[in-house]
Amino acid sequence: MELNEKILRYIENCDKVDTLKLSSEFNEDHQKIVGAVKSLEALEMVISEPVKSIKWELTGEGQLVADKGSHEVVLYNNVPAEGIAQAEIMKIVPNAKVGFSKAMSAGWIYIDKSGGTPLVKKKVNMISDTVQEHLIEITKGIDNLADNVRNDYKKRKLLQEVTVKSFVLTKGPQFATTIKKLETDLTSEMLLSGAWKSLQFKPYNFDALGQPPDCGHLHPLLKVRSEFREIFLELGFMEMPTNMYVESSFWNFDALFQPQQHPARDAHDTFFISSPATTEQFPMDYLERVKKVHSEGGYGSQGYRYDWKIEEAQKNLLRTHTTAVSARMLYKLAQQKEFTPQKYFSIDKVFRNETLDATHLAEFHQVEGVVADRGLGLADLISVLDAFFKRLGFDKLQFKPAYNPYTEPSMEIFAYHTGLGKWIEIGNSGVFRPEMLLPMGLPEDVNIIAWGLSLERPTMIKYGLNNIRDLVGPKVDLNMVENNPICRLDK
Ligand code: PHE
Repeated sequence: MELNEKILRYIENCDKVDTLKLSSEFNEDHQKIVGAVKSLEALEMVISEPVKSIKWELTGEGQLVADKGSHEVVLYNNVPAEGIAQAEIMKIVPNAKVGFSKAMSAGWIYIDKSGGTPLVKKKVNMISDTVQEHLIEITKGIDNLADNVRNDYKKRKLLQEVTVKSFVLTKGPQFATTIKKLETDLTSEMLLSGAWKSLQFKPYNFDALGQPPDCGHLHPLLKVRSEFREIFLELGFMEMPTNMYVESSFWNFDALFQPQQHPARDAHDTFFISSPATTEQFPMDYLERVKKVHSEGGYGSQGYRYDWKIEEAQKNLLRTHTTAVSARMLYKLAQQKEFTPQKYFSIDKVFRNETLDATHLAEFHQVEGVVADRGLGLADLISVLDAFFKRLGFDKLQFKPAYNPYTEPSMEIFAYHTGLGKWIEIGNSGVFRPEMLLPMGLPEDVNIIAWGLSLERPTMIKYGLNNIRDLVGPKVDLNMVENNPICRLDK
């Protein structure tokens, strides 16, 4: 019979029992009994009440007595019929001091001074070892000792008191003598057949502690992110607040001089938000200047010459790039009374409705750097990029002219990867257009250079992964996360 059922049968007849009693009745380890009781309690078949009780146990010396006999008996047995000098027997018998005085006071031995030297001699022919008998009983769990006897053994350090925790069991509301097998998992078969309606399910144990993890681990993306952050901070960049995943089209596109018919706004690339679908709050004077530069031009530009609509700018979306954050920061900078040079950076999530493949996900991270100062140009951009990418371990960079609506000139950045032995495209950059900066209110002689790259690409290169799903998503190998070293990009 299973232990659980044995316990139930036992309670059926006695109504109340201590787990220690069950342990000795069933000759079963107490912890095992407690384990079984806990599972019965989860089924509400029993109720357990914790109790503390005192138990007497043999000390190491007590165990020796139980095995070999009491010190006084051992001494008595070593006294030869013709007697022995006291000094002699003290040498040959272990624990002789205690043994001698106990045997003397029990009247088992005496000292014969009739001859030349006094001799220890037996006084009686037969003795019994009650101490040993008592201690053996205790090891068997029988304790009929009178209090004074027990105290004497305690004083002699043969017995010690221990507190034991146990449980008193009574019947629970679901008490029965047999255990119904409870289901632990809801399966699709149960749903299809309707069996779930009649089956009984095991209640969750919300108190279960679970497996404690040895320690936490940073995901490779976080390791690389902290390395990038370190580089930016060392170069004196300030981190921009990137906590708004939901952005308006205005800050994501219009502020960046991206025309409203730009294909990137198309629902194929952008996740638009349905609720709340729009934002109404904008700095209106600035919005008017943005509208004007798109539709009519200004600041030396002819604009795009189309009918700019506020409704398009109001549409909420998941930001498609962190340049939306840069736009907000630069607008804020333009509101300062006196312009001061700035270096900003951000590393955070962006979202694009892209076809998913080995290297593309619908959400990824961008690393972005922005430098604002008077009189900056392409040469400054190249030198800043050189300094930045050198810190990542890339000594050789190449640039290819590119197009962004908000930068002119724009350059794609290529780096020579010595490990891979080839040039890889690593980022995008440019000098922000006046059509973007001047409506914000920045002084005309202020230029802003910026660049962006993904966090995933360098992470995959660094950790030798060639499928992005090995890095993000349900298929990520936790061992990979735990065992990868911290990131040093230049190593
Ligand atoms: N926003 C660009 C992108 O999403 C990157 C970029 C940032 C380009 C800053 C130029 C300047 O790819």
